[in-house]
Amino acid sequence: MKDVRHFIDLKDFDADTLKGILKKAHALKAEKYNPPQIFTGLTLAMMFDKRSTRTRMSFEVAMKQLGGHTVVMNKEESQIGGAESIESTAQVMSRFVDAIMVRMSNHEDFLELCKYAKVPVINGMTNRSHPCQIMADLMTVEEKLGNADGKKIAWFGDYNNVSQSYIEAAPLFGYEFVMALPEDLNGNVPDGVAFTNDAQEAASGADVIVTDTWVSMGQEGKDIKKFWPYQVNAELMGHANKDAIFLHCLPMHEWEEVSENVAKGPQSVIYDEAENRLHAQKAILAWCLEDAGVSVKQDSFNFAA
Ligand code: CP
Ligand code: NVA
Repeated sequence: MKDVRHFIDLKDFDADTLKGILKKAHALKAEKYNPPQIFTGLTLAMMFDKRSTRTRMSFEVAMKQLGGHTVVMNKEESQIGGAESIESTAQVMSRFVDAIMVRMSNHEDFLELCKYAKVPVINGMTNRSHPCQIMADLMTVEEKLGNADGKKIAWFGDYNNVSQSYIEAAPLFGYEFVMALPEDLNGNVPDGVAFTNDAQEAASGADVIVTDTWVSMGQEGKDIKKFWPYQVNAELMGHANKDAIFLHCLPMHEWEEVSENVAKGPQSVIYDEAENRLHAQKAILAWCLEDAGVSVKQDSFNFAA
């Protein structure tokens, strides 16, 4: 039996597979108003144990635009929020749906769900990583700058789930990834990843400036004082390349990690980035369902792979 095609973490993939998924994402974006009905008859289950706007909406719209269905079951409303085990939940869900997308805080729990699921499971963000977000981000980089290869992507603020997926994609897409973060977080940065405590140094010559909230979900009440030198503001943007773009996965904590004039300024592409979640999601789903024993009809649509 073939392995189930889970989408767990970017480090699990080779470059060609991820680049191929992004090619499909661009092709599907081009077909935005004439979406191929490749998911006809297929159902995606979604389960969240944290809030979401983009992940929830983009997966739901992705399935529906391409002819499929969705069912949302949040943790607290389901038996997994009570006594049912992850194993039993995964086994049962696999009998009903063709793919599962989950936002599960605990990465180990997420891996357990993947272990027992008989259909593809997609990581909709854990405490460790957010691979779907970085696929949309890199799609945006390709759209705006042509290619991620050889670009300098500078990250500011916290070391978190979003930055972890940037770290994993760097060797695959060929970009230089530099983190600027407070000194006491130096020890959190995985071995081999470039970092500095000097925000200006990280921004210097960067093609992409990216940040995320200093207070991830579940960290409410955290002291943010140490992060202020890493705020992305006009002064910091001035050190980047003049054509540099600004990315933020959203939601922003207005106006902490980014100033209003940068978030709403001409270099900001945050809403294109948010839209690209939809197109990237479609391509990730298509990849997951390709080899899963499920017939994904492509109709007359020809991926420009
Ligand atoms: N960027 C992102 O994952 O947003 P949501 O939390 O709204 O899904
Ligand atoms: N780092 C943030 C990302 C939200 C999309 C969090 O985990 O809350």
